[in-house]
Amino acid sequence: MDTALNYNYKVVKQFAIATVVWGVVGMLVGVIIAAQLAWPALNLDIPWLTYGRLRPLHTNAVIFAFGGCALFATSYYVVQRTCRVRLFSDTLAALTFWGWQLVIVAAAISLPLGFTQGKEYAELEWPIDLLIAVVWVSYAVVFFGTLIKRKTSHIYVANWFFGAFILTVAILHIVNSAAMPATMTKSYSAYTGVQDAMIQWWYGHNAVGFFLTAGFLGMMYYFIPMQAERPVYSYRLSIVHFWALIFTYMWAGPHHLHYTALPDWAQSIGMVFSLILLAPSWGGMINGIMTLSGAWHKLRSDPILKFLIVSLSFYGMSTFEGPMMSIKTVNALSHYTDWTVGHVHSGALGWVGFISMGSIYYLLPRLSGKKSMWSTQLIEWHFWVATIGIVLYIASMWIAGVMQGLMWRAVNSDGTLTYSFVESVKATYPYYVIRVSGGALYLIGMLMMAFNSYKTVRGGSPADTRIPALAGAHA
Ligand code: HEM
Ligand code: HEM
Repeated sequence: MDTALNYNYKVVKQFAIATVVWGVVGMLVGVIIAAQLAWPALNLDIPWLTYGRLRPLHTNAVIFAFGGCALFATSYYVVQRTCRVRLFSDTLAALTFWGWQLVIVAAAISLPLGFTQGKEYAELEWPIDLLIAVVWVSYAVVFFGTLIKRKTSHIYVANWFFGAFILTVAILHIVNSAAMPATMTKSYSAYTGVQDAMIQWWYGHNAVGFFLTAGFLGMMYYFIPMQAERPVYSYRLSIVHFWALIFTYMWAGPHHLHYTALPDWAQSIGMVFSLILLAPSWGGMINGIMTLSGAWHKLRSDPILKFLIVSLSFYGMSTFEGPMMSIKTVNALSHYTDWTVGHVHSGALGWVGFISMGSIYYLLPRLSGKKSMWSTQLIEWHFWVATIGIVLYIASMWIAGVMQGLMWRAVNSDGTLTYSFVESVKATYPYYVIRVSGGALYLIGMLMMAFNSYKTVRGGSPADTRIPALAGAHA
């Protein structure tokens, strides 16, 4: 073993800190738009601050800035530790950091100005799309280059998930973003009509499957065993989990287009594959949770482990709910309602948010030469405040969503609608207010994390950058 080699922790630390910063920003915008839905006067009649422009700013900030930076940080850390080599190229790694921050800033300026391609989660205009492609290809070169020069014979399973996420997102982004530029700030999709819709939701659903799931499963397979100090419950199951998940996700996109001009058979394929998706999703969740076998008592005293394990419960919940919502008759009720938004946030706040927070809490002290985070008690507070926030958010959206669906379909005996649309909006108001309070709690938790991170990182320098001694199946 070559102990002279050092890891590149600088870029990991930069991305870890950026995760916390963008988390605060993205969630703050989330609370603002939640408040605008309850009190529309908060649009303030200023075009840049209207709901229609801030909503994509929120989704881009939380998914690509907060989630994206967490994925960069953890994948760069995990690939180095498990392959026992430094990143393939420091220059390219730095380019991915600064390039990605540039993409985020460009999004934060162009979206409020109203420049958009109008495709959900792919709103950014073509010059920014090109920059994303450059950054992403560099990311792939750094990640796979590191895998190629690894000092271990085996490629640890977390890297399979990170690798699939990187490759698939590259393909999704490049295919879905194909467009004809008209000016620097306006372009037209290369696809038309229902093909355009299908490509968009092939992208959109796999953005969920690969951006919001596969990479975070990579985190699960590394940080849960490390924090619990237990090997993965079943390594064999992790391999089956990997292949089953990535094969199945690809076909489920049409469940976003039920009852549209998309041919009926394609909608049914989407539904069937979504139902099948329950099995690999739960297989992975069980593998993660069971990794705690024999170490359950640690949950009592370790708030980082609480974040990591509770994230899996939310993953299980949202991957049970998703297949149910993909059944056409259920979707006839849920589609267009706040039930979808509740589903999204049980996955986003509970799964994506919590697994990222747990992993970053694990990383920050190690990257700063400290034994632990500045305050463990504050992590405990963060956990409880955020958990209560999630429950308020998703429970209010479930009730609002089912209520809206039932009100919209209610008909009188003479065939006329029982409720006007505005009656359903009025009935939703209290639930929107509850959502604001849940979102505010989640944001307060994130602010606690930012303060704790600042105190931890300040003045610290990376410890233990040497290649570690082999400890267990993975380092
Ligand atoms: C403080 C926390 C948050 C609050 C208050 C919040 C609030 C909101 C609101 C009000 C919407 C618009 C809903 C609508 O169109 O009716 C929304 C959409 C969305 N948010 Fe959040 N959000 C938060 C955190 C997050 C996080 C952490 C993620 C992802 C990791 C996320 C992902 C999304 C997505 C994907 C949508 C689009 C949903 C859809 O189109 O159905 N949010 N959020
Ligand atoms: C087995 C896994 C899952 C399945 C089968 C599934 C299925 C679905 C279905 C049927 C919808 C509603 C489509 C509509 O009526 O428009 C939906 C929406 C959504 N789901 Fe899931 N879901 C799963 C897991 C997840 C997870 C884990 C997350 C987040 C981390 C997530 C994020 C989303 C988002 C963001 C949307 C809203 C898309 C939009 O309209 O903008 N899903 N999902």
